[in-house]
Amino acid sequence: MSDLKDIVVPDIGDFDEVEIIEILVAVGELVKIEDPLVTLESDKASMEIPSPVTGVIKEVCIKVGETISEGGLILRMEESSMLENLSENEKNNSSAETLQQEPKQATNSEGVNSSGITFDVHAEVLVLGAGPGGYTAAFRAADLGKQVILVERYDSLGGVCLNVGCIPSKALLHQAQIIHEADKMAAQGIKFNQPELDIDIIRANKESIITRLTDGLSGLAKQRKVKSMIGIGSFVSDRILRVENGDEVQHVSFDNAIIAAGSQSVKIPGFPYDDSRLMDSTSALALVDIPEKLLVIGGGIIGLEMATVYHALGSKISVVEMMAQLIPGCDKDIVRPLHKHIRKQYDNIYLKAKVTSIKSLKKGLKVTFKGEGVPESEIYDRVLLAVGRKPNGNAINAEAAGIDVDEKGFIRVDKQQHTNVSHIYAIGDIVGDPMLAHKATHEAKVAAEVIAGEKVSFDALTIPSVAYTEPEVAWMGLTEIEAKTDGIKYEKSVFPWAASGRALSMGCDEGMTKILWQPETHRILGAGIVGTNAAELITEAVLALEMGADWEDLSLTIHPHPTLSETLNFAAEMQAGTITDLYVKKKK
Ligand code: FAD
Ligand code: NAI
Repeated sequence: MSDLKDIVVPDIGDFDEVEIIEILVAVGELVKIEDPLVTLESDKASMEIPSPVTGVIKEVCIKVGETISEGGLILRMEESSMLENLSENEKNNSSAETLQQEPKQATNSEGVNSSGITFDVHAEVLVLGAGPGGYTAAFRAADLGKQVILVERYDSLGGVCLNVGCIPSKALLHQAQIIHEADKMAAQGIKFNQPELDIDIIRANKESIITRLTDGLSGLAKQRKVKSMIGIGSFVSDRILRVENGDEVQHVSFDNAIIAAGSQSVKIPGFPYDDSRLMDSTSALALVDIPEKLLVIGGGIIGLEMATVYHALGSKISVVEMMAQLIPGCDKDIVRPLHKHIRKQYDNIYLKAKVTSIKSLKKGLKVTFKGEGVPESEIYDRVLLAVGRKPNGNAINAEAAGIDVDEKGFIRVDKQQHTNVSHIYAIGDIVGDPMLAHKATHEAKVAAEVIAGEKVSFDALTIPSVAYTEPEVAWMGLTEIEAKTDGIKYEKSVFPWAASGRALSMGCDEGMTKILWQPETHRILGAGIVGTNAAELITEAVLALEMGADWEDLSLTIHPHPTLSETLNFAAEMQAGTITDLYVKKKK
């Protein structure tokens, strides 16, 4: 351990004063020499200031929006002795051999590997990151007889999905749905009193679900003899991962590695991130309070799901989306019922619009806008930034293992999840869109099985997407947007839920079910559903696509009555001309 080291702005040429537009590190974070610390911007260019040493950030001395000059203090770091602990050989490995593409000798025993590098522990399969991708890969590899080490920087397994993503958001969305359903009942003659909300219990309920699941994962890891190591992992070579947990540093050698280090929220430069009223999805899920006025930047899945939660809890919501529609990847007709529904509930939905600045004031966050129909500025109690996620490919020293990382931070893989270094695999958010848990788990099983010698590859025909909004939106396979962009021929049929007895009795007549098929073969190409339980209903369409079913199969499959699942059957019957629940003019 050494004294704190002041990190100052180095020689930046002719610039006197430059603006700090992004702080790329946080207190407690381990950074390596040359890792970018901050982004500065002059009127001519922006530049990243690299770290001159390896160490842990102890104090950040600047704020976004301030200006700074050469010699100005950026932060203080505790230099790490990690690299000093490595043997000469290993140091050489981490620099001179960074472009090695082919696997070198595997490690056979603990202590010193066949390249002469010292290490503390050896794994047949090392998994980096314990999200749905990582823990699934670790468990599957263990089930296939491999000795597995799972490295995770947090002491709870489960990654984004279990701790700060899918699960907590769905716990809150379930409560939001109950509030919404109770409210809707008034139209059917059943009036409930306004709900009394106890935010502490709401938060505690969410936390208890997370703990139950993450504790469960720890138990499953133990049963399988998967060794969990807590610490920040970074590659030292294509055979060694360094794992740092505070003062403790260990080196793990491996025969095969699976990278499952996930993604993080995208930040827009220049916003006041040191103001806790500016939230990302993690802080929004923390549910510190219920703001009176909430602005959501980004009308994608996270933005709209969190808007659903906060609206149900009583916040006045505004959404600002830069594209011409909400959830831009999904067909407009499928999104329209959702848009129509929330337009009535929310204060504002601004499309083709952006936020140009956010200022911290005592009374709130002052937001300035640019775009169609927006006010010049407005004050909000809290702002949620949900404009996408970026992969963590640049945060694991992948280059030391010779792994190619693209300009966005993705690690590209083949259909067997191999990276360009053949004994190192990658899965989940870090390998590409869509960033979804069910994609990560599927890829995880492929990687583990390939390592175990099975002849498998990732060949799913589609990965379904769902927004758990009110109403839910789900789609799979080909969208009309993609078909038109790529010139793919298709035909479609749309069944409006207003003609479904089940939908009417559930008060969700705004929904619709759409199927797309190939004109010559009639095989199902895609489907979109909006309405209650769309997330559950889309699975039948996924199975139809995977099984090569055509619309006739869907129309002749007996569905239980009355159900929402019938709407897929009815959409197909509309094409078959056999529908009786609606009158459709005969095609000539
Ligand atoms: P992650 O879950 O991100 O896990 C990566 C793990 O690696 C993390 O635990 C991280 O701490 C660890 N790690 C990273 N770097 C290091 C390092 N250097 N050393 C040690 N450990 C490291 N998807 C769905 O399918 N359905 C949903 O309903 C859904 N809801 C979501 C809601 C929110 C608010 C968010 C943010 C995401 C949601 N997602 C959802 C997306 C889903 O969470 C991700 O697609 C999924 O978690 C990706 O899994 P992964 O294993 O690739 O990565
Ligand atoms: P997203 O990509 O779904 O949506 C981001 C939205 O922000 C887009 O509509 C985009 O046009 C908009 N945007 C970008 N820059 C903007 C700007 N400057 N101003 C205004 N709007 C801007 O990303 P999101 O919502 O952050 O979610 C990330 C990912 O997490 C999702 O794509 C999905 O993979 C995953 N996720 C999945 C969930 C699920 O399956 N139910 C739930 C939540 C997240």
